[in-house]
Parts: sequence; structure tokens; C-alpha cells
Amino acid sequence: MTIQTIKTTPYGDQKPGTSGLRKRVTVFSQPNYVENFVQSIFDSLEDFAGKVLVIGGDGRFYNDVAIQKAIRIAAANGFGKVLVGQNGILSTPAASNIIRHYKALGGLVLSASHNPGGPEGDFGIKYNIGNGGPAPEKITEAVYARSKVIDSYKTVDAGDIDLAAVGTQKVGDMVVEVIDPVADYARLMETLFDFEAIRGLFASGFRMTFDAMSAVTGPYAHAILEGILGAPKGTVVNGTPSPSFNNGHPDPNLVYCKDMYDLLMTPEGPDFGAASDGDGDRNLIIGKNRFVTPSDSLALLAANAHLAPGYKGGIAGIARSMPTSAAADRVAEKLGIEMHETPTGWKFFGNLLDASRVTICGEESAGTGSNHVREKDGLWAVLLWLNIVAVRKQSVDEIVRDHWATYGRNYYTRHDYEEVDAGIANKLVDDLRAALPGLPGQILGDDLQVAYADDFTYHDPVDGSTSAKQGIRIGFTDGSRIVLRLSGTGTVGATLRLYLERYEAADGRHDLDTQLALAPLIALADQLAGVRQRTGRQEPSVIT
Ligand code: G6P
Ligand code: ZN
Repeated sequence: MTIQTIKTTPYGDQKPGTSGLRKRVTVFSQPNYVENFVQSIFDSLEDFAGKVLVIGGDGRFYNDVAIQKAIRIAAANGFGKVLVGQNGILSTPAASNIIRHYKALGGLVLSASHNPGGPEGDFGIKYNIGNGGPAPEKITEAVYARSKVIDSYKTVDAGDIDLAAVGTQKVGDMVVEVIDPVADYARLMETLFDFEAIRGLFASGFRMTFDAMSAVTGPYAHAILEGILGAPKGTVVNGTPSPSFNNGHPDPNLVYCKDMYDLLMTPEGPDFGAASDGDGDRNLIIGKNRFVTPSDSLALLAANAHLAPGYKGGIAGIARSMPTSAAADRVAEKLGIEMHETPTGWKFFGNLLDASRVTICGEESAGTGSNHVREKDGLWAVLLWLNIVAVRKQSVDEIVRDHWATYGRNYYTRHDYEEVDAGIANKLVDDLRAALPGLPGQILGDDLQVAYADDFTYHDPVDGSTSAKQGIRIGFTDGSRIVLRLSGTGTVGATLRLYLERYEAADGRHDLDTQLALAPLIALADQLAGVRQRTGRQEPSVIT
């Protein structure tokens, strides 16, 4: 085998965002773009000679091309072995599990999550460390710094490996093992959940629809739901991964899963609907006549986790990202366990999970997960919900209402303004930030008194690191909040996210329309930040 050192010139834009490097395929397919970034990752790691690297992705367009390149670069750099999912497929949580289970040094997760795929769509590369979770900022910053000065990368003059053939092959001196993407993950799920109870649920006629959105969870859902758990064939829809997600937008929200939502709101519809995103880490949960917001889902799963065998001893604590509603905080308080508020991005949960400070984590962006891996996990959330429904023998709607009657309801919505001019968006945030010191104590809008107003800074209690400027929070004395931040995952212009929350006590009104319940706060937020006026947009691009 000949190791080749190829000269290259840096790209200036390889800065990993909330979740790795995400760009258009047209950007990734520029000469040496993938090579530069992968070599920059390896240059930022220590002691990888002879170690195991996991590689897998969500099957989107360019997945196979990038995998073949990464394998050659790994071989030239001296990795001992690469574990790669068959046909290049590994859902993000499954990749996390493989890294942990086989004690790999880390892994390359190739995905742009819920963003559209195809030649004109998005692609992404993320490095995960040995605990199975996304690399911390210390590493992603080193990768970016390296990418700005890189002048060569290493590769080998070897052909492509056969990604379809499960088993062992060699690239130069390095072993490449193509593995079944589903088997280890399914075994892990079996250790966490009461599969007997869920089998019983399906056997009793419980009807479910799971939309895999032509993305990576198709094979997992077919094997686990219809295979092991005995749900009727046809339970899983759009279950074959497609490089362009069948020209769809694999984001499991009420916009892209509207058909499913409508179905669940009809009397003849199924009892339970769920979906997952491009790479399998997000989830959407809809019961008959009841959409469960991700923030509520986190609180509900935490409150009921003990009903699943994997969590029967109780949970150590809960973590949520800052913009996620405070519904889970009330559960933590009642259980007398730790509650942590972190910046947006799953990577911030890693330390807390590793230190056993928390067991369950979640984000408003439809991510929930636990200490079983170090990524959020779409199917895990679906299976935990099924486990809870099977044991409580209640509908999703009943379980949600019971929860509100115990803890109160946090009305919650997110308004996104997508593809806003970056200059305008940055100025808007800067101006609001500058106004924050004057806000506390003021009475605004309809009698809302500002309790605090700041730009969220996170102090990691485990490693002592600090992450500043994580989003503007304006909290009111009645528990309401306005949060505003710029998305770290967009690929074009800036996405402005406005998060609004209002608390209604346990004996309060739980049946208001969410947008109406939050209307005064929405108006106040616009008044404070001037979103409409500055962006020229009359309404958000997406409301979740
Ligand atoms: C990805 C990350 C999440 C994050 C979400 C939204 O899914 O894995 O941790 O919450 O993106 O991030 P953004 O920066 O776009 O709000
Ligand atoms: Zn995702």
C-alpha cells in the first residue's frame, strides 16, 4: 500500500456548528473539501494509531462518496480498524451505541440531520468521541483552527470497499468491517424496555403509524416495531431510506408530518403516531387527538421512566437545553433530583451523563434521550412512550392531561424566521442584548414584570468550562419567558428563533389554544426585538 501525501489549500468556512459541519452538497463536493475536514479532525486527535473508528451516516446523497474518502484517509493516518454500517447506514444514536459498545476511539457521523438531501440539498460531517457523543467545543475549535491552515492530507491509493458486503475487508493495512446497522441497537433497546408489554399492546389491537420519512430509521423501525414487537405490517410508512428522502424534508414536525397529524385527529385514525428525522435522533409524538410538544414529552418521559425496566431504579437527574420549556423542572423538583439547563446542542449533555448527574435529557427541537447512548434518540423516545402507554393502559391524551393536572402546563411555542439576512439578524440580537440591563423590574405589556434579562452563559459543573452568548432570555415573575437566539444549524443566511413560554398552574386552564395563550408574549417579544419591522417578515416561516 502506498500512503500518499496530497497537497491542499485551506477552506475558510469549515467551522463546526451546533452539530458538526453542515453545508450544501455543492460545497462538500469541492476539490479536497471532505479530505481537508477529515484530515483536520484526525490532526486534532491524539493517539489514534491502531485504534477503532466508526463511520456511518443517514444514507443521504454523497454519504457513500464521503465514506469511501474517509476510509482511505483513516487508513493512511494509521487507524487500526474502521467499523462501518452496511450500505453506509448508521442512525446517529446507533452510531453512538456502536462507538460505546465496541470501545472505539470515536466516529464520523455523516448527516445533515433533518435538512433536505439530494444533489442540491445538505450534507454534514460530525466527529463523536469515545463516549459516543458529539465532540466538545475544545475539539471542534481545534478542528476549525487546523482547517484554516491545513496544507496536506494523507490518503492511500486503494479502491472503494464494498459497502454492501457484511464482513471484513482491508484497505492498506487497515481492517474495515461492514456491520449490520440494526442488530446491536435492537439488542440495546431490548435491555431498556418492556418488550413483552409492548408486544401485548400491539396484540390487543393498538394501532400505530410510524413515519420514517424515507430516511435512516426505516430499517430500524421495520426490524423493531414490525419484527420484534409484532406491530402489523404497514405500521411503518416511508420505511426505505432514499438519498434524497424521496425529495422530502425529513424533519418530524407538524409542517412536514401534517398528514399524520390530521390522521391522528380523526376518530378512525390510529391510536399513536410517531416519526423520526433524517438521521434518526429526533422524534415526533402524537396520540389520538393529542400532539405532545417536545418539551412536554421530556417532562412526561422523565416522570414515567421508572415504568420501563431500564430506568426502574429511578433517574438521577434531568437536563434540558435553555430554550426548552421548564415543564421538566417541575418533575425534577417533585422527584427531588438534579435539574440542569444547558446551551442548545446535545454535546452539552455529555459531561452530565458521563458523570451520572442526569439520566434523561431533552430539547425543544424534538430531541430526547438518555444515558443509554450520547446522542438524542428518536426510536428510543417512541419505545419509551409505547412502554408507558402499555403499562399505564391509558391513552396518550389521558397521560398528558394527568400530567398537567399534577404539575401544571407550560404553554410553549417556537417561531422561526428562516433565511434572514445575517447582518440584520446579528444586529437585531446585538441591539436586544444591549437593552437587557435596563429590563429587570420593568412592567411590560399586559402586566408582565421582568424578573431577569440576560444572555445565557453556561458553566459546565463537571469540567468547569464556560460557554457564553448562548441566547437571550427575558424571564417574568409569573414564570413566563421570552428567549431569542440565532440557530447554529442553518446553512443559508441566518435563522432567528423566538421561543415563548407561559406557565398555567395545575388547577388552571389547560385547554387553551397555544398561540392564543401566548399571544400577549408574542406581541411583547416583537415589540422588544423588532423582528417583523427589521426583517420585513410579517410572520414566522415555521411555527412549532
Ligand atoms: C440539532 C442539534 C440539537 C439542536 C438542534 C437545533 O438537532 O443536535 O442539539 O437543539 O439542532 O439547533 P439550532 O442551533 O438550529 O437551534
Ligand atoms: Zn437529526
